[in-house]
Amino acid sequence: MDRNPSAQTARVRTAIFPVAGLGTRFLPATKATPKELLPVLDTPLIQFAIDEARAAGIERMVFVSHPSKSAIERYVRADEELEATLRERGKARLADMLSDNALDESETQIRFVMQDEPLGLGHAVLCAKDHVLPGPVAVILPDDLILGEPGCLSEMIDAYDPQKAGHMVATMQVDEEAVSSYGVLDATGRDGALILAKGMVEKPAPEDAPSRQAVVGRYVLSGKIFDDLEGLPPGAGGEIQLTDAIAKAVDGEGLCGFRFTGTRYDCGSKAGMLSATLAVASEDTEYHAVVGRTVEAADVAVTAAE
Ligand code: UTP
Repeated sequence: MDRNPSAQTARVRTAIFPVAGLGTRFLPATKATPKELLPVLDTPLIQFAIDEARAAGIERMVFVSHPSKSAIERYVRADEELEATLRERGKARLADMLSDNALDESETQIRFVMQDEPLGLGHAVLCAKDHVLPGPVAVILPDDLILGEPGCLSEMIDAYDPQKAGHMVATMQVDEEAVSSYGVLDATGRDGALILAKGMVEKPAPEDAPSRQAVVGRYVLSGKIFDDLEGLPPGAGGEIQLTDAIAKAVDGEGLCGFRFTGTRYDCGSKAGMLSATLAVASEDTEYHAVVGRTVEAADVAVTAAE
């Protein structure tokens, strides 16, 4: 038993995976295949996100999905029939891989909640409210792929200290002209990997941006986030924005950014997905003959965007 009550309440036990979006940037691919199941080589984006949450010791995973995206639940849960068929056909290694990937209820609790209409990321997180364990929660956007060891969420949970800031958002430095694509921190100082902040602005024009610290898809949020999301009016793009609820709590809960060590790929965009695929392929000798020089060019592009 944990004797320190404050450590107990600060433990991050739940991860929310919002996966109900329309994925319009990937149409027509996403007409019948959820964006979160698009693969980097052979591994769907959702699998990378699940692995990251597992490595961070998450006990409960809440997937906020849409009725038209039932393939996500099918992917996440074990498929014993397929595994048995693979074993019968002498493909035990593939069956073992599927079995390892599938979430096992005895190890990790799984909940599926439906967001019937994609009303925004903030609304998706609010849909998870009744399914989270007590304490702060993590939010992982699977289309933001962050590669590196340790995983971004593990790093964030290690660094999370509600005494310093109840809300922590993953941030990376972007070029000035890129700030208008992100939420941007109003930074006040630095404490190791933490960037102390007094606010956050959604998609500012470069001349109005308070910093170049852009928020990407990993969050550790105080449980109070649900109160702040409740009744929040639609913000930018007519959507209920998670950023607005985080910004609302700056004075009470406190806010900081976290500079993770891995490399982030925006796999919600075609260019990001292509960069991620080339980066992963370049790590495997099987593909060296195919990627060759192309990888060097892609590495340059990714580094330039950081
Ligand atoms: P995005 O804004 O990148 O996803 O949301 P999108 O809306 O599906 O994609 P585009 O812009 O139309 O191409 C980031 C994550 O939040 C989820 C998405 O599924 C994605 O994983 N999301 C977004 C929701 O679950 N609900 C929403 O209402 C919006």
